[in-house]
Amino acid sequence: MGGGGGGGRGVWFGVAAGCAAAACVIAAALVSRRVKSHRRWQRAAELVAEFEEGCGTPVGRLKQVVDAMVVEMHAGLASDGGSKLKMLLTYVDSLPHGSEKGIYYALDLGGTNFRVLQVQLGGKGSNILKQKVEKQPIPQELMTSTCEKMFGFIASKLKQFVEEDEESREGTIETRALGFTFSFPVKQSSVSSGVLMKWTKGFSIEDAADRDIVACLQEALTKEGLNMQVAVLVNDTVGTLALGHYHDQDTVAAVIIGTGTNACYVERTDAIIKYQGLLTNSGSMVINMEWGNFWTSHLPRTSYDVELDEDSLNRTDQGFEKMISGMYLGEIARRVLFRIAVESEVFGDVGSKLSQPFALSTPLMATMHEDESADLREVKRIVEQTLQIPDIPLKTRRLVVKVCDIVSRRAARLVAAGIVGILKKIGRDGSGPSTSGRPKGQPMRTVVAVEGGLYEGYSMFRDYVDEAIVEILGDVAQYIFLKTTVDGSGTGAALLAAAHSSNRKSYI
Ligand code: BGC
Repeated sequence: MGGGGGGGRGVWFGVAAGCAAAACVIAAALVSRRVKSHRRWQRAAELVAEFEEGCGTPVGRLKQVVDAMVVEMHAGLASDGGSKLKMLLTYVDSLPHGSEKGIYYALDLGGTNFRVLQVQLGGKGSNILKQKVEKQPIPQELMTSTCEKMFGFIASKLKQFVEEDEESREGTIETRALGFTFSFPVKQSSVSSGVLMKWTKGFSIEDAADRDIVACLQEALTKEGLNMQVAVLVNDTVGTLALGHYHDQDTVAAVIIGTGTNACYVERTDAIIKYQGLLTNSGSMVINMEWGNFWTSHLPRTSYDVELDEDSLNRTDQGFEKMISGMYLGEIARRVLFRIAVESEVFGDVGSKLSQPFALSTPLMATMHEDESADLREVKRIVEQTLQIPDIPLKTRRLVVKVCDIVSRRAARLVAAGIVGILKKIGRDGSGPSTSGRPKGQPMRTVVAVEGGLYEGYSMFRDYVDEAIVEILGDVAQYIFLKTTVDGSGTGAALLAAAHSSNRKSYI
């Protein structure tokens, strides 16, 4: 019995020891899991902190970017090739004021979408009477096709639009004047001709190099049997400036923040040193800066930017654009998230989606950034549906939002520095003598027209731009107004077509 009892105790002892050992193993496993999870989070946090530091834009640095912008503007105006800022002549020396009259058409090509417009202008004092706009995405394959295919496609869409429009109005116009917004760097030889310098934003049609863009379009229109004259060829910034100025004559510059980014402004002809002797009735000309290609060592560049550039179609070009515009912001965020996923595993087992270039678009990045729900539902949905990573915990969702915030804040603050750079160059930043007979130092009301899907559709981005302008300019910021125009790049081209096909010009 005793023996039996002893055996029982032994068994009991054995079981107890077994249980204790198992508990120890479980506890050890739990501790090790916790330690691992802690390490994963630590690594993820390190990567985010490193990225945030690399993207830093304290006001001191922004002011350096402002000054560099001014220096590069001078250099680009001094000689062709004098700066990465091309500072292109547009031959637009007068901006519409409202006396334009008639029906005009416009084509707007250069972003994700392509637009055809008809604009009815009522003449003196009246606003734009009517406007029809048709917008459609550019088929991806056309972006890297041939001139004939691309221009053939837009000419056929324009023809269809004009025919439907004239049918609905029951009348044709004798000579139809067209404003053509072509949103790429073009070396213009007149207001209605110019040669493409480089493609940007993922376009790459090789046989367009060195060809007159208007001649290409005119040829395609003739092939379609469409009687239409291209009256003006304008960059989208110039169209936006024209519409901005039409509504508010204190508008001196325009900025696009969409798929790509760029700015233009009104410059005195005597400051355009590279074209000495250039005469205009107004003494001014709109300069297309092509600021997407701006570069200075003061820009906060990270390893993600370097890698994005190396993998792009236009390596070493458009450095500023690659930190700012809609084509790239989502991609920068994706690259950061992918590295975090690989090095920290906080996303669990990620499939191949997060490793795919451009898998995260900027509009989706903006939606995640602006998700105001307590449990970040939109972030969860987008990460699940678009990046195919299911069920990430709240902590990880917050990390995703943080990455989007860093990317967007840097971009917006750089836009602000760029805008202040232009204002400084033309003496509207309150630092120089007043140009209009006002007491020295008293700033003038100054309007900058802004257009582009990224800016229009992303309120946190707009807030960051405003905030940084105030940080840089202080009190003077109250005289600066950023006004959003919608379809301005196309409507403005129609307005300029009107100004250039009647002789009723009004001057800047
Ligand atoms: C182009 C500019 C254009 C800007 C905005 C850039 O990629 O080079 O000409 O104005 O995008 O569309």
